[in-house]
Amino acid sequence: MRLPFTLILALLAYDSVFATAAKRDYSTYDYYVLEHNPLADASLADCASALGVEIMERAGELQNHWLVRAEKDISALDKRRADPVMQTLEEIQSRAYSAYSARSPDASHAKRIASAVRYLSPQTLRQRVKRAPPPPVEDSGFPNIAEVSQKMGIADPEFSRQWHIVNEKHPKNMMNVSGLWEMGVTGIGVIAALVDDGLDYTSEDLAPNFYAYGSHDFNDHTDLPTPVLSNDHHGTRCAGQIAAAKNDVCGVGIAYDSKVAGLRILSGPIADVDEAAALNYDFQNTSIYSCSWGPPDDGRSMEGQNYLIRKAMVNGIQHGREGKGSIFVFASGNGGRTDDQCNFDGYTNSIFSVTVAAVDHQGLHPDYSEACAANMVVAYSSGGGNAITTTDRGANKCAHTHGGTSAAAPNVAGVFALLLQVRPDLTWRDVQHLCVKSALKINPDDPDWEKTASGNSFSYKYGYGVVDAYKLVEVARDWQLVKPQAFVEMPAIQVNNGSMDVFQKAEGGISIAPGGVTSAMAVSQAQLDSDNLGKLEHITVKVWITHSRRGDVEVELISPNGVRSILAARRYGDSATTGYPGWTFMTVKHWDENPVGTWTLRVSDQAKEGESGVFLGWTMNLWGSVEDATKPVKIYDVPHVDTVLAPGSTEHTYPSTIISLPAATSTQYAKPTAHLPGDHDTSEGDASKPAFPGSGGKPAGDAQTSATSTPTPDEGWFADLSNLMTNPLWFFIAVGAVLAFGISAGIYFWRRRVRMRQHYTTLPASDDVAMSSIGGGGGGAGGQRTKELYDAFGEVSDDDEGDEETRLHARGPSPGVNLHTGFLDDDPSTAGMTPAPYRDEPDPATERSHEQGHSHERAESPASGSGSGDGSWEHASETR
Ligand SMILES: *[C@@H]1O[C@H](CO)[C@@H](O)[C@H](O)[C@H]1NC(C)=O
Ligand SMILES: *[C@@H]1O[C@H](CO)[C@@H](O)[C@H](O)[C@H]1NC(C)=O
Ligand SMILES: *[C@@H]1O[C@H](CO)[C@@H](O)[C@H](O)[C@H]1NC(C)=O
Repeated sequence: MRLPFTLILALLAYDSVFATAAKRDYSTYDYYVLEHNPLADASLADCASALGVEIMERAGELQNHWLVRAEKDISALDKRRADPVMQTLEEIQSRAYSAYSARSPDASHAKRIASAVRYLSPQTLRQRVKRAPPPPVEDSGFPNIAEVSQKMGIADPEFSRQWHIVNEKHPKNMMNVSGLWEMGVTGIGVIAALVDDGLDYTSEDLAPNFYAYGSHDFNDHTDLPTPVLSNDHHGTRCAGQIAAAKNDVCGVGIAYDSKVAGLRILSGPIADVDEAAALNYDFQNTSIYSCSWGPPDDGRSMEGQNYLIRKAMVNGIQHGREGKGSIFVFASGNGGRTDDQCNFDGYTNSIFSVTVAAVDHQGLHPDYSEACAANMVVAYSSGGGNAITTTDRGANKCAHTHGGTSAAAPNVAGVFALLLQVRPDLTWRDVQHLCVKSALKINPDDPDWEKTASGNSFSYKYGYGVVDAYKLVEVARDWQLVKPQAFVEMPAIQVNNGSMDVFQKAEGGISIAPGGVTSAMAVSQAQLDSDNLGKLEHITVKVWITHSRRGDVEVELISPNGVRSILAARRYGDSATTGYPGWTFMTVKHWDENPVGTWTLRVSDQAKEGESGVFLGWTMNLWGSVEDATKPVKIYDVPHVDTVLAPGSTEHTYPSTIISLPAATSTQYAKPTAHLPGDHDTSEGDASKPAFPGSGGKPAGDAQTSATSTPTPDEGWFADLSNLMTNPLWFFIAVGAVLAFGISAGIYFWRRRVRMRQHYTTLPASDDVAMSSIGGGGGGAGGQRTKELYDAFGEVSDDDEGDEETRLHARGPSPGVNLHTGFLDDDPSTAGMTPAPYRDEPDPATERSHEQGHSHERAESPASGSGSGDGSWEHASETR
């Protein structure tokens, strides 16, 4: 057989020459990621020349994805002018599919190119948001922990303050690692990467364990993740939690003999291609990716992962660690005080990551920590008057104010390093199973705990419980590896012929009536068998809902066994008008449950005058392990477009080869918003409140909360039916009138929207315009949209030279970067960016009065007017 020798040469050349990401020059070039279909007739080079682009390098570790660039058209002063490269692709596609020229050589060339380009997307810069922590910490004055120090020979001067390792005051509340250390389990041979800002490898505490080979700076495109900006200390602190050396500097890491790499992405805006590369960087040697960042935790963002990021995570779990899968650890988020929930964040609600929320040194739930059905576990962090002591930036520096869910995640990453030393053969799913099996039920009387069908206990606040390293490793010692992953993609249900096209134009569906509407989906044994699904693990649910106020919508999933997962609870600050255009929720609450039977999705709102919505449809994926491991395994692939409901019913869908639309739901660009409590470490913890008091999780109590009118289980499942029966005729007439108006208005807006969306598809530099036009929120100035990184707790001065006594209380935008640190940044004018108006973002003042005008079920506490954290869950429960 003759090998396509030149092809091989070319690939080899790309792999070796372009192995690391070259420096980008966004001012001179426009960058794109091109996915080439290697089976197509046109070569990569043909495609590049047809599109007029230059091939730069492979896109991270993604097979057949290439970073390409074209010189910027500087004459294009009007930013709204079409992107020439995207336009070229569209022209090629229209030539390829045009009937008139079907036989011409030009058309067949166009066809070859069109079928070889599977994906093309402009790369724009966005800023990710740190889940940082900090503030005031009383000198804890712990008694020394002489015994552990002596046994392990620990001379680190601040070890006695590391209560998360040995907690003398509340001995039950610690990561419980010292017993493993005594057995020689200290993370030897395991590498974790901090996907974060800089990592100070010159720190004497980190230098001995720094892993340079797996480190890279994706912000400045250099090899080493050197902290440069004044607030680049977050990655260093998180790294210290995992692998601070046992020496005479500060404290120790949980896995003090493991290695840490730094992947710097948070110190400036970053394009998807680089974020994707970071998540797969050196993924054969690096096992764990610790990620303490995400979309803003402001209680009103809903942001998923773009196609390349999802692709990278799937690539990581399928090919990383020699196929056993990279372990992604994500912090659940710090937006608890503004009702934020980790199911509104596509990183934390991904089935491919372990989502970690926080508990404080007394084991209580700190109010910043986000709850949701995708929470897997909790770990110790700040709150109740204490924070985390860890290495800081500088040769010999120690931080005492680290915290937030930002610090909970690296504590778990450190424990995973211990776990993988003992069981390097575990797959990414084994690690998740072990978390479910071994996490400890903390605060057992907390009403947030509920029994699952498998007999386990789950809580939105704590997931399956707190990670205890000793217990985890103990369970792992004789753990049998799980069988390969299987999944069932249920056919979508179109409620009353509901549909939504790629432009988010909705048709059909059913109005959300008071009390909510429901839809049932039957899962049969035959379906499981045909996809070879044995035992259930995750469930993802995708919903299509339009609503005039997204934060009013509540969504819950009820299993055939009566177990409920609250997927979306009310978010008081979220007044987006975009609804849920194919948004995916995730729940781990049905782990090990038998899924056969009828599942019910209930969608409700606050039944407020003037606010309304339509439930269009939903679908569900069941993920688990195969029943029969001898059958061929179906491999999951990330779809290009998966936000269309009933694609066949609309003529406006593009062929799936042209994806200049980033996944429609996942591009809501945040502005600077840091609704993060500055006093996170002194916040009173709780263990006596359900996470979502009004949301049906506790059927018995709900009868009292009038306006939410959560139905009892009996009526709830048939609420839609009974609503229809009891609604008087005038209701339908009114609906008809509204529809008639809506349709004419809809046609007008649809036309506009289509036009703007087309701009979006072809205009990398101006998608901020397009996004704001659909109410998606958007940030960005000039051609670079910045995804605002938020500095979780408004990082304070402790930062600067580790001097936490001189904390700055005034917060404001950090110089030079888009890390936003202040609430004031919410105002676009003060943030100096975001030219387009945000329909996504409520004005806090009007929002509040609106809330008071229409809220029937909760008394407003005076404190709730503050705008930055109304603690709605708590207040809501107080009124019960
Ligand atoms: C914590 O570790 C010790 C060994 O150091 C072990 O005896 C204990 O059971 C562990 N705690 C839990 C809750 O498993
Ligand atoms: C990392 O992995 C590569 C290939 O997978 C291997 O050649 C190399 O030796 C590894 N490096 C280290 C430092 O482990
Ligand atoms: C949905 O559409 C089908 C065919 O297009 C039609 O037969 C059916 O009556 C419609 N159902 C509803 C509830 O409108």
